[in-house]
Amino acid sequence: MSSELRKLHSKDEPRGEIQLGDVLIEGKTKIVYDLPEYKGCVSIKSKDRITAGDGARAHDMEGKAVISNETNAQLMQILNDAGIATHFIGKWSNDTFHALHCHMIPIEWVIRRVATGSFLRRHPGIEEGHRFAPLKLETFFKDDANHDPQWSREQLISAKLKCGNVVIGVDEVDIIEKMTLLIFEILEKAWAGANWALIDMKIEFGVTAESGEIVLADIIDSDSWRLWPSGDKRLMVDKQVYRDMADVTQAGIETVKKNFQMVAEKVKCLSLSVYLCLSLFTCTHFFFSACLCLLVPTSSLVPCLSLFTCTHFFFSVCLCLLVPTSSLVHSLLLILL
Ligand SMILES: Nc1ncnc2c1ncn2[C@@H]1O[C@H](COP(=O)(O)OP(=O)(O)OP(=O)(O)O)[C@@H](O)[C@H]1O
Ligand SMILES: [Mg+2]
Repeated sequence: MSSELRKLHSKDEPRGEIQLGDVLIEGKTKIVYDLPEYKGCVSIKSKDRITAGDGARAHDMEGKAVISNETNAQLMQILNDAGIATHFIGKWSNDTFHALHCHMIPIEWVIRRVATGSFLRRHPGIEEGHRFAPLKLETFFKDDANHDPQWSREQLISAKLKCGNVVIGVDEVDIIEKMTLLIFEILEKAWAGANWALIDMKIEFGVTAESGEIVLADIIDSDSWRLWPSGDKRLMVDKQVYRDMADVTQAGIETVKKNFQMVAEKVKCLSLSVYLCLSLFTCTHFFFSACLCLLVPTSSLVPCLSLFTCTHFFFSVCLCLLVPTSSLVHSLLLILL
């Protein structure tokens, strides 16, 4: 039962061993194990392996499993806190996390803020750097042998993909599209706080074996996106650096690993910055309220209060736009407002 496993994750005391069942699936970068004691749950272990071009390029990278697992755990927790339905239950060890067992939807949802990479090759005439507003959404059928062909929304709906007991039809595609936009916007704003630009991202969804719910599944790590510090392509810190190498040398692998490590560290600060921002906001709010009560004579209190309310409202809206990454933030904001 997933609720039992969630309970176990919420405890602070040492948690002991959990028996691993069969390997359900082993891919290029992860192994998914059944958890016989917790029906409907799986254990997902990352590998020290980096691949690109549907596996055509592949290398060992010592330490990548730990970096990937850490990055994913932080990001999934931010999304869980924001109320997004994900398969993520919790990080279990350095290289392993627990999740809801899913029937995976064999589609990659790609979402773009800035035109670059394969989009430019597929759409001649569009200049690199073109900003999509609204965001551009694309779907690719997961089929390594045929290099993941692009599918239109209509092709996807016509395919009537069956995942567990759920057929992926119009409603399911609508839900997934909305979730994809939301996920991108949450992470984009979180990264913007660090002055890093989230350029594009690919994610996967699954249907939970336990309840048939559509959830964000698989992982989000440095393989999932393009991330440009200060919005500058030359500073890119994602897997594109590995893809772009003419020859992959050990020094090259080390550079990529250093970038991934830096991202994993930064990701830790993303959720922290949300809380710091909120604390600052609350303190400022408290300080100005106190000043107002002490300084303003009763006659000028009314216009002053209107000004204060407007300013308060303005800052609250700004905060909501900038910091949508935690349900705690939202609930506290509601109380403050
Ligand atoms: N919660 C989950 N339940 C079951 N399977 C999952 C879950 N999350 C991810 N998977 C699947 O685990 C498999 C292994 O992951 P990995 O990324 O290593 O595969 P891959 O070689 O990249 O192949 P793929 O092209 O399918 O991603 C993938 O097929 C992925 O869809
Ligand atoms: Mg994969």
